[in-house]
Amino acid sequence: MKHNVILGTGSAAPDNVVTNADLEKIMDTSDEWIVQRTGIKSRHIARPGEKFSDFAVPAARQALDMAGVEAADLDLILAGTISPDHIMPSGACSVQALLGAHKATGMDVCAACSGFIYGLSIADKYLKCDPDMNILVIGGEIVSHHLDWEDRTTAVLFGDAVGAAVVGARADGHRLLSVETGSDGNLGRLLYIEGLGSATPVTKDFDIDNTYIKMKGREIFKHAIKNMVEVSNRALARAGVTLDQVTKVIPHQANMRIIEMLAKQFKKPMSEVFVNIDRYGNSSAGTIPVALSEAVDTKFIEPGDIVLMTVFGGGLTWAAAVLEW
Ligand code: UT7
Repeated sequence: MKHNVILGTGSAAPDNVVTNADLEKIMDTSDEWIVQRTGIKSRHIARPGEKFSDFAVPAARQALDMAGVEAADLDLILAGTISPDHIMPSGACSVQALLGAHKATGMDVCAACSGFIYGLSIADKYLKCDPDMNILVIGGEIVSHHLDWEDRTTAVLFGDAVGAAVVGARADGHRLLSVETGSDGNLGRLLYIEGLGSATPVTKDFDIDNTYIKMKGREIFKHAIKNMVEVSNRALARAGVTLDQVTKVIPHQANMRIIEMLAKQFKKPMSEVFVNIDRYGNSSAGTIPVALSEAVDTKFIEPGDIVLMTVFGGGLTWAAAVLEW
């Protein structure tokens, strides 16, 4: 019998690393504040001209190599991102062209930080209809293009990175046991970018401030924990797995204090919780697939592990997935 499985993972990020000390030079902040309040020490920031596909394509190639799947054999590309190369074509179509995945259908999943696990959810359902499909799920951002470098309340938090996974149905492999999602549009104004959409189009008076991320951090903090716990419990129930059986947790990398609170709620020691926020900051839809790829590469997750992944972001959106590695 075939199950939906993760066949390969990959990730990529700009080589330009910006440390907290670098930020101290351009805004009123300190390494001490950033580390204590967020756990972030450095982040990757795209250089001028660098764009989403520059990192989505190498991440995808790494995942395809590990999967042993040719780009030409992909049937579907789902790109979870709010920062594709262009508004049109989609990020997925840009990646399709560069990979030469001529048979694939490409579309973007606009769910902010939750974009990758939302993509996994869509892939899971496609595969239940057609188990012969090879699906590439990408998640990630060049989020730095939406940062106001004069706003210390957001600029220090985010970074650029993209991850990818190839998903298919096979008799053996790293099983995707369940994926659950949720959203609440009523809370959209807690984390948003005002402009570039049809409500605030670009006119000759367009204010660049409208392209920046705005966030009510404290309120987001509370909603993040509540909803990641709720959706994780749903995903565990759907998978038929208890919290006791979970051996590794891959949480959204938005704030070390949120990660630690989640670990406490899940009654897991930090040694079972994957953390790379110190090196990446919050890469939005990139956090989960980049962490998954690094967890695989470093053998943080190994065959036999039951892995819980959970995420939260603008929308508001949230999601969780359970894997049997
Ligand atoms: O990925 C999507 C989901 N995002 C999240 O989950 C993020 C959730 N929120 C958070 O992670 C935290 O709320 C933040 C890290 C954004 C902020 O931490 P906080 O402990 O909630 O700080 P705060 O916003 O309450 O600000 C505390 C103080 C303020 O000063 P006063 O008013 O107490 O004098 C801020 O002005 O810290 C000040 N502050 C800073 N100081 C130095 C804010 N940002 C900075 C900064 N450097 N970068």
